[in-house]
Amino acid sequence: MVTPLMFLQLCVLSIVLPTTSSAFILSDGIFEGREDDLFAEILRDEAVSRLDQLGKVSDADGHLERTFMSPASVRAANLIRAWMEDAGLTTWVDYMGNVHGRVEGLNASAEALLIGSHLDTVVDAGIFDGSLGIISAISALKVLKSNGTLTNLIRPVEVIAFSDEEGVRFQSTFLGSAAVAGILPVSALQISDKRGVTVQDALKENSIAITEESLFQLKYDPQSVWGYIEVHIEQGPVLEWVGFPLGVVKGIAGQTRLKVTVRGSQGHAGTVPMSLRQDPMAASAELIMLLESLCKNPKDFLSYDGQCNDSTVESLSNSLVCTVGEISTWPSASNVIPGQVTFTVDLRAMDNMGREAVIYELSNRMYEICERRSVSCIIERKHDANAVICDSELTSELKFAANAALKRITGEIQDEVPVLMSGAGHDAMAMSHLTKVGMLFVRCRGGVSHSPAEHVLDDDVWAAGLSILAFLETHM
Ligand SMILES: *[C@@H]1O[C@H](CO)[C@@H](O)[C@H](O)[C@H]1NC(C)=O
Ligand SMILES: *[C@@H]1O[C@H](CO)[C@@H](O)[C@H](O)[C@H]1NC(C)=O
Ligand SMILES: *[C@@H]1O[C@H](CO)[C@@H](O)[C@H](O)[C@H]1NC(C)=O
Ligand SMILES: [Zn+2]
Repeated sequence: MVTPLMFLQLCVLSIVLPTTSSAFILSDGIFEGREDDLFAEILRDEAVSRLDQLGKVSDADGHLERTFMSPASVRAANLIRAWMEDAGLTTWVDYMGNVHGRVEGLNASAEALLIGSHLDTVVDAGIFDGSLGIISAISALKVLKSNGTLTNLIRPVEVIAFSDEEGVRFQSTFLGSAAVAGILPVSALQISDKRGVTVQDALKENSIAITEESLFQLKYDPQSVWGYIEVHIEQGPVLEWVGFPLGVVKGIAGQTRLKVTVRGSQGHAGTVPMSLRQDPMAASAELIMLLESLCKNPKDFLSYDGQCNDSTVESLSNSLVCTVGEISTWPSASNVIPGQVTFTVDLRAMDNMGREAVIYELSNRMYEICERRSVSCIIERKHDANAVICDSELTSELKFAANAALKRITGEIQDEVPVLMSGAGHDAMAMSHLTKVGMLFVRCRGGVSHSPAEHVLDDDVWAAGLSILAFLETHM
């Protein structure tokens, strides 16, 4: 979703990388005196084999594809459920097809720690996106079970495998986590897929009879939840670039999607003189170039008035990314000046106010260009999601856990794990409406994701599991 170039820029500008970390102190507890056995069998070997196994559960023959409530998704859910039970968790599937596995610990009425990620995939997916977060959480709990310490947790811990994050089938992301967070509108039940099957029908086909009533019941009581953490592959090249298996996420960028329609005067490519044309294609080219310059150098475009102060512009310079990923023309023939061009704009930034300022400035300048070129422009806002700032306490606990895990695996004092931002959306975004959230990123080869070439080193899978284990230890 984000270009490598942008990440290089990110590296330089927004990663917090202390030089040395002499201050790093090992926690006493679960790892004490067990340097030789860091549960590699469960956290690495078995987790890797489960990732492979889950990666074969697909609706397609030649590639990995699991969409909301598809036959493969249901098989994947059953597999995950069995692994949860193997780890000593009590399991159930909710009205939105999410799989839950829970252990009550010492106090069933204490606020619960939720750990999750998604079980659905994109089309022609990699095997780590989503699955890694689910499997490493289950593995960490399995270590506690095998050590007989699962019941020592001071609060309930619940792993949730969300049924829909990628939104491939219904073009609507976060069906699963949004339902649990209580932000899914009832209208979502009536969204239909390409074949006209609605979300409600898709659930019904799998004997899940969701109603408006039961959708409301899915929402967790915020009082019953302590926080949410998610482990996910980075899907970008920063961690590889800085040489770290793990990174802590400080926030998830906010996003706006626009649809721009440019209408001009359709005509014959041979007969209409250049001076008399109202060409929406040439206009779109200028609009797209404007977008690129604005997003590369927001400082040059934004005025420092009430809304946009130094810190907003600074944050924008570090995180703003803009993409035109889809363009279509009418009638799309080589010898016709098009009558209409439409294109999408995907705009992301960590600062919500800054994102608004960019959209405002962009729209104004776009309309100016259209007016000068005598074409008509319509800019529609199709989607908005505010940025999510991860909870600072949770983030430092995760950082501590990740540092502890890396220290144990490498046996040496490491620099502290880097802090980065997420340009991609995650279930944590929806869950932030329910409770405080924290995220840990895991290095993936070349930053490649949403592709069968997606790859995570076995030892990095191990580090992810060991981090969750260290995190759970702080709740004992
Ligand atoms: C269990 O948790 C609840 C809710 O936080 C609290 O009120 C209660 O005192 C706890 N019970 C014990 C035995 O710690
Ligand atoms: C914990 O589990 C590991 C691996 O399963 C084992 O080597 C270790 O002895 C166990 N420790 C305790 C206290 O049960
Ligand atoms: C800049 O504006 C933001 C949002 O209005 C505000 O939170 C922040 O404190 C301001 N910073 C400065 C340095 O004025
Ligand atoms: Zn994902």
